[in-house]
Amino acid sequence: MAVVKILDKTFKTSIPEAEIKKHVKEVADRINHDMAGKNPLLIAVLNGSFIFAADLMRMITIPCEISFVKLASYEGTTSSGKITEVLGINEDLNGRTVIIVEDIVDTGLTMKRMIETLGTRNPKSIHICTLLLKPDKLTVDLDIEYAAMQIPNDFIVGYGLDYDQQGRNLPDIYTVVE
Ligand code: IMP
Ligand code: MG
Repeated sequence: MAVVKILDKTFKTSIPEAEIKKHVKEVADRINHDMAGKNPLLIAVLNGSFIFAADLMRMITIPCEISFVKLASYEGTTSSGKITEVLGINEDLNGRTVIIVEDIVDTGLTMKRMIETLGTRNPKSIHICTLLLKPDKLTVDLDIEYAAMQIPNDFIVGYGLDYDQQGRNLPDIYTVVE
């Protein structure tokens, strides 16, 4: 097991690259089956999902398209405090089958916001495809149709996921060591 130090924290390998790829393939096969003939539009959420999206799309063998969005968070004046804005949806979503591609669903608030925003653009359907899901942390009601892997609540990095912008380039997934 490999150990890496990133900034002030130590991480150890938890999901090796080969295992990640195996689970990405499983989820891609399900999409190939479910979405045949629908020309789905993958909407990948930057930055974290860029590696997952690239691997996933290459394992999808049916016609499909991809676009990228970014989320901007800032402190607002509402009671909840934080406002998240979805930047970069330039495609016409009218009548489209949309698959949101995310790195990890934690509380689920980000996905909820994405679905609300995309829902106003009249897509035919919206589906969630996440590399990782922390089921114990989910605080909102979400239908997560495609989750490649489920993990415990520990903080992880690698395969696109970051700790303070570092560690995205690690091919394996690492878990923080307390
Ligand atoms: P949510 O809105 O709470 O579901 O947060 C999801 C976002 O938090 C993800 O898109 C990640 O950017 C980030 N995140 C959650 N857990 C982790 C983690 O363990 N490592 C790195 N980023 C994480
Ligand atoms: Mg993310």
